[in-house]
Amino acid sequence: MEELKPKRIIALMSGTSCDSIDAGLCDVYPDLSCKLISGINYNYPEHIKSKIFQIFSGNAGIKDICQMNFAIGQCFSNAANLLISEFGKPDFIVSHGQTVYHYPFDDSIDNISLKSTLQIGDSAVIAENTGCDVISNFREADVAAGGEGAPLVCFADEKWFKKAAVQNIGGISNVTVVSDETFGFDTGPGNVIIDYCMNKFFGMPYDKDGEIGFSGKICESWLDCLMQDEYYFKNPPKTTGREYFSKIYIENALKFAPDDPKDIIATVTALTAKTIAFAYERFVPEDINEVIIGGGGAYNPYLMKLLKLYLPKYIELKRHEDYGISSNFKEVMAFALLGYCTYYNIPNNLPSCTGAKRRVVMGKITKYS
Ligand SMILES: Nc1ncnc2c1ncn2[C@@H]1O[C@H](COP(=O)(O)OP(=O)(O)O)[C@@H](O)[C@H]1O
Ligand SMILES: [Mg+2]
Repeated sequence: MEELKPKRIIALMSGTSCDSIDAGLCDVYPDLSCKLISGINYNYPEHIKSKIFQIFSGNAGIKDICQMNFAIGQCFSNAANLLISEFGKPDFIVSHGQTVYHYPFDDSIDNISLKSTLQIGDSAVIAENTGCDVISNFREADVAAGGEGAPLVCFADEKWFKKAAVQNIGGISNVTVVSDETFGFDTGPGNVIIDYCMNKFFGMPYDKDGEIGFSGKICESWLDCLMQDEYYFKNPPKTTGREYFSKIYIENALKFAPDDPKDIIATVTALTAKTIAFAYERFVPEDINEVIIGGGGAYNPYLMKLLKLYLPKYIELKRHEDYGISSNFKEVMAFALLGYCTYYNIPNNLPSCTGAKRRVVMGKITKYS
């Protein structure tokens, strides 16, 4: 095997929240540790963002998806170029792309599997616009090996943390339980329902610092009803996405919501916290007594307060910052590591998290020529 050397990598990621393209300049070392040198949150131009939401809502055609694949590639390049203009070219770029559809089910037609996932933002566009090689399209290799193609961050969690539950609260929430046998799964919605309701009732993209949540009252009967969704009861491995917690799903749920929009925000925030606590109760061994929170949800103090309330008292709540890692850039750092492994041919999926049949090297390499 080729001798491992440190690599300077720009990693690019946009999650299900679609709040920004996160770009991180990282150094990844042979011991698989990763240091963030600089990070930026690059906002999609407004019309591109609304096109992506049109795709999420199922109201876009193949023409829109075709165009957005290239347009998002340009947006990702712009984010990378901001770092390149300040720090120079990295050894290579790693891009997660923008997930527009995730179908982790065992359906088939004519005995042919339909399990699939789609991240767009074409790597050739990024290579051409930055002058760098690009490693991208991680999830496909895991799906091809029978996995769900998610969650992938577990691989980094296992390398970077000792025994703990590492909880990411992005659009969707996912946990990695780092223990003798690490496993992980999506616990359910993170910010996706909160953001949707903030947009609908307050014309704002999210509940900044949990202010609206703090001012509302949790409607316990509606919360009980929301907690009955079958996803929460399914055994891991399991993953979900915007296709499930969709606009239609949320609009249906809102038919039974309290009248005051502040109470709606308080209750859907409680749903995120309570489904995380419920997942721990059901699926996480009791000897795990530390939870390390990351993702944008870590910046919502109302959500944090509710998590503390719902989790068993023996669990200590920490943030990635307590370990010197930015909650905001943790996922890009994880993808920098995944790309480093692709480069060196090191298997980088964890079958105990994704359900894949075997360990594979995920990621496709696009050369800048
Ligand atoms: N200061 C804050 N107060 C409340 N919520 C926040 C704050 N900062 C970020 N968030 C939430 O985090 C979300 C983004 O989280 P992120 O981890 O980037 O998710 P994703 O990986 O899905 O893009 C935002 O849409 C918002 O709901
Ligand atoms: Mg984000």
